[in-house]
Amino acid sequence: MERHLTAPGVRIRGLTVVYNTPSGELPAVSGVDLTLAPGTITGVVGESGSGKSTLALSMLNAVQPPGRISAGSVEIDGLGDVVRLRGEELRRTRGRKVGYVFQAAQNSLNPLKTIGAQLLDLGRSHDVGDLRALVRDARELLGRMGMDGARVLDSRQHELSGGMRQRVGIMFALVLDARVVVLDEPTTALDMITQATILRIIREVHDERALTTLVITHDVGAVAEVADDLAVMYGGRVVEHGPVAEVLGAPEHPYTRGLIRAIPRLSGDLGLARALPGRPPTLGTLPAAGCVFRERCESSLDLCRTAEPVPAARAGRTVACHLPGPHAVPVKRKEYA
Ligand SMILES: Nc1ncnc2c1ncn2[C@@H]1O[C@H](COP(=O)(O)OP(=O)(O)O)[C@@H](O)[C@H]1O
Ligand SMILES: [Mg+2]
Repeated sequence: MERHLTAPGVRIRGLTVVYNTPSGELPAVSGVDLTLAPGTITGVVGESGSGKSTLALSMLNAVQPPGRISAGSVEIDGLGDVVRLRGEELRRTRGRKVGYVFQAAQNSLNPLKTIGAQLLDLGRSHDVGDLRALVRDARELLGRMGMDGARVLDSRQHELSGGMRQRVGIMFALVLDARVVVLDEPTTALDMITQATILRIIREVHDERALTTLVITHDVGAVAEVADDLAVMYGGRVVEHGPVAEVLGAPEHPYTRGLIRAIPRLSGDLGLARALPGRPPTLGTLPAAGCVFRERCESSLDLCRTAEPVPAARAGRTVACHLPGPHAVPVKRKEYA
């Protein structure tokens, strides 16, 4: 398959996505700026409800009612602003230009057709000329992920385990040779060891094909190994974003510190690992003014109640926090897994 080895950049600017609720439209993603540098893998972490999936859907202009993108843009090199795409143009973009695995995608396969038949449907719907090459590529990807590719293509959904379906989803995200790939918790149905292996394979394919990739994951430890950059989300904001080793090695935002402290493997001390106190906010409980994290923050100031911190460059990354930095308490270890 012909490959154009220049990865596109992605620039998300002022992105706001609201969901219509009984209390009106409330933002799940609020004024997010995030740049994915060409050729990088960006990991996105944050507790459940922080807006990660909504952000991922926005990158394909795929937010469904009761949600809508109410402001902002997602500029992809060679594609323009995805938020403005409509109809046929948008359909052609999804899958072919921007590959994706949405959360719980393992349940979105057609139960009646074999994986191979669905692959051919996908190829035809995107006018792939060489369907044989497409099948070969699919088999190869499945093989790399530890499966018998030919057999999987002959199978129907119910014949595959959750972990196998997830790997089929990853294959679908990569097989059309899209240059931008969005993966929303692509490995949660797999055990920890297999998750790490699959993330490593995603890294390999990413490098070979010169992709720009966004990976949402719960496994901060595994993402540390494969991502270049890390974006930490909370309450619909990106609160910290920068090179993964720096963000995890010396987190600046109190929320990032809390997240890392909750993971023994990262804090490097089983005795010290402790869960973040409190609960993540929901759309209805998100504070309307000030910092969205202030109620759970160990070091919040008076200012945090009234003024929302603006993301600013510091310590080689972007941080949205009123506390002066760089922070003096780096986590102990520099090694993550
Ligand atoms: N279809 C929907 N209708 C109403 N609220 C939604 C919908 N989808 C997501 N939300 C809310 O938006 C917020 C962000 O959700 P989501 O993007 O799924 O976060 P994450 O992927 O980080 O868990 C949550 O508070 C969630 O309850
Ligand atoms: Mg999600």
